Amino acid sequence: MAHINKLNYKKDFKNLKSDITAKGIFEDEKHWTISSGQMKGKVGDLAFSFDKNEKVLFFGLGKKKDVKPEDFRRAAGSIVNFVIDKKYASLAVECPSSGMDAYNCQAFSEGLILASYRFLDYFSDERADYHLKNITMVGTCNKNASKKGAIIASAVCDSRDLANHPGNITTPTRLANFAKEVGKKGNMKVTVFDRDKFTKMGMGSFAAVAQGTNEPPKFIIMEYFGGPKKEKPVMLVGKGLTFDTGGISLKPGLRMDEMKFDMCGSAVVFGVMNAIATLKPKMNVVAIVPSTHNMLGGSAVLPGDILTAYNGKTIEVLNTDAEGRLILADALSYASKHYDPEYMLDFATLTGAIVITLGKIATGIMGNNEVLMENIKVSSENTGEHVWPLPLWDEYCDQVKSHVADVKNLGSPGQAGSIAGGAFLKAFVREDIPWVHFDVAGTSYHVENRSYAQKDGASGQVIRLVLDLLGV
Ligand code: BES
Ligand code: ZN
Ligand code: ZN
Repeated sequence: MAHINKLNYKKDFKNLKSDITAKGIFEDEKHWTISSGQMKGKVGDLAFSFDKNEKVLFFGLGKKKDVKPEDFRRAAGSIVNFVIDKKYASLAVECPSSGMDAYNCQAFSEGLILASYRFLDYFSDERADYHLKNITMVGTCNKNASKKGAIIASAVCDSRDLANHPGNITTPTRLANFAKEVGKKGNMKVTVFDRDKFTKMGMGSFAAVAQGTNEPPKFIIMEYFGGPKKEKPVMLVGKGLTFDTGGISLKPGLRMDEMKFDMCGSAVVFGVMNAIATLKPKMNVVAIVPSTHNMLGGSAVLPGDILTAYNGKTIEVLNTDAEGRLILADALSYASKHYDPEYMLDFATLTGAIVITLGKIATGIMGNNEVLMENIKVSSENTGEHVWPLPLWDEYCDQVKSHVADVKNLGSPGQAGSIAGGAFLKAFVREDIPWVHFDVAGTSYHVENRSYAQKDGASGQVIRLVLDLLGV
């Protein structure tokens, strides 16, 4: 992995040596780059100038009165992409948000670091070279806000990295080890159940998905109690499917490699916990990640099999490729039984249907609590990570009822595929727990039009949204 993981700070440009300097320009400002037609000053615009051996990159920020945090992130992204393309080693950028709300400074810093990420680990030629060594923020910048942005963005980069490594590297064991590393840094208690243990405990649904693989599955729990003992924790659950072949209901070959990203729900959870481990906020958060490959073979779960989940409900498996909901059934049941959370969120690359519905633009959310859904919408706007609600009416829940068991892992053929996933999960969430399911299948990898996220590979989306929601 290559990315910048912290920023440097300086009051002014005096004695500051850097390969290139960057300065922000508002669209409605009088500046030669605009009057000469070099750029319009819109977000994403760049104008390069070379004067007396000094390289200066002017970047657009749009109209001053309209500027939003996301504009700062995107502007930062375009600067860093330019600097990386040109193979410069150091960048000094004048803080463009001085005198403004501190959150703008956080957002700009997030953009710088998020955009600096490249996944180069497997190149054995010069493509592995990463030239950028440091970024310095210059001027009167809100250092605390900027540092926080850098920590958060760095955690997002770590999560992208987990997701970008293929299934032979990012295994359930690797995820469990990552959880332990984060746990050590953040004084968290990390517990990992192996196959024997969770099978004996009655996680029949997770065990069934995992029975077809030789790669050891893991049920990972991370407990962070940084707040008052009596305060209820927030519960985060993530789908850690380290490779999804579809199982016996085998997926088509085309782009099956993308199913290494089927652990991106867990990458959200790990990203949040990673940032928490560094920032150590006064709150309680518990994370749960069931993790396995979904494979086919002599011992794999079969269509028609009936399983018993941890909460005692029986599940008819109609398609072994709808495995995410099966492993989450046990994780949500476990959370419901052993914790009394303030609210619970789950994250999963659950359905291809969500990509049809919302494209790669927004994460689909479904839940049982309007207030929580609204709060998520607010955090979505703060962080520029789009979400859009889908309904979970009783009629949809009826569609996952089975003729031979309590529920089936498919809805009605050809109808509302993403909602069917949410409706299935709802059967495993204790009814009094406010809960929201995030279907991140569209937004967690190969997203376009975001200067601070490479379009090849994992985006790391939703981590920042959740941290905002938590008030970290
Ligand atoms: N991991 C997939 C969902 C997915 C599809 C994620 C495309 C990212 C891109 C999930 O396990 C799956 O296969 N879901 C099935 C459900 C169906 C069988 C009801 C799907 O979406 O086809
Ligand atoms: Zn699947
Ligand atoms: Zn899957």
